[in-house]
Amino acid sequence: MQFMIDAPLDMHLHLREAEMLQLVAPLSAAHFAGAVVMPNLLSPVDSHQKLSAYRQAVVDAAGDDSFTPYMTLFFRPYTKTELETVRDHIIGIKLYPAGITTQSEAGVADFEAIGETVALMEELQIPLLVHGESNGFVMEREREFLAIYRWLAKSFPRLPIIMEHITTADTLDILDEFPNVAATVTLHHLMLTLDDVVGGLMQPHLFCKPIAKTPHDLQALQTAVFSGHPRILFGSDSAPHPTHAKECCGCAAGVFSAPVALPKLVELFAAEDRLDMLADFVTNNAQRFYGISPGPKTVHLQSKAWTVPQAYGTVRPFLAGEKIQWQVTAIEK
Ligand code: DOR
Ligand code: ZN
Repeated sequence: MQFMIDAPLDMHLHLREAEMLQLVAPLSAAHFAGAVVMPNLLSPVDSHQKLSAYRQAVVDAAGDDSFTPYMTLFFRPYTKTELETVRDHIIGIKLYPAGITTQSEAGVADFEAIGETVALMEELQIPLLVHGESNGFVMEREREFLAIYRWLAKSFPRLPIIMEHITTADTLDILDEFPNVAATVTLHHLMLTLDDVVGGLMQPHLFCKPIAKTPHDLQALQTAVFSGHPRILFGSDSAPHPTHAKECCGCAAGVFSAPVALPKLVELFAAEDRLDMLADFVTNNAQRFYGISPGPKTVHLQSKAWTVPQAYGTVRPFLAGEKIQWQVTAIEK
């Protein structure tokens, strides 16, 4: 069996810097027409200058002009002039609560202080991408953040807001309450519950933020994605860490799914007999919500099993050693 998809997009991707960037950027560029690149570098991407330098580094590392990096800035209080300067060079601004995940120490500590910048973003129509977790009990963090999503969506009704990597059934309700809100869903959150992470022997390579939740939450996410919700977008949150940072005391959060994401999604949608809906999830919904039109790139896949390698360089991928029933066989640019 064959399947092809035009301009697949990964709407949430960590590419890192230096050697890691060189390793992982080509893997995303091989399967995707574009990706939203996260700004949580060691020194966050929070100025026009850092943004330009990082964009160039990503383009050079990807080495493929059929791959468009959609760049983001790290949220901080910005002036109108700063926002006007970067506006045409970014797809949005990513907000992290301070210290909530990898390299987010410079994030927001006081949500009462963000209104001015968010109002400017609404005026300039710069989307706000949000890592929505409180610093409460780990299984309740996303639920506890919902009040902030509701406050943002209601106070800034013309601001496009993206709830990143959602994991709970309750979060889905917000999509029905507010037309200016969309959500990304990862591959791993479409497959895992907390049991897969810590129910047996602990699996550091499945440890990520937000942590995978309950069977009820998993089912709700699957139902929403496979029924084709028009404001749910695929975002892998592929987040590479070298093996030594995962297999240690104090394991880093992040699942490296970039090289398996597209073939595994095809397998999952095929198993649900929903291949006809995959293009909406992996590109059409994102193009509509963000108003973007990625360049031409058609990815052809075939149902031909392959075994996921144990490692790509220093990084162990999601589904390492497992068989995936579909593989990418050709790219037309
Ligand atoms: O698991 C995660 N890893 N969640 C995030 O939000 C950040 C990411 C990373 O940068 O490693
Ligand atoms: Zn992320």
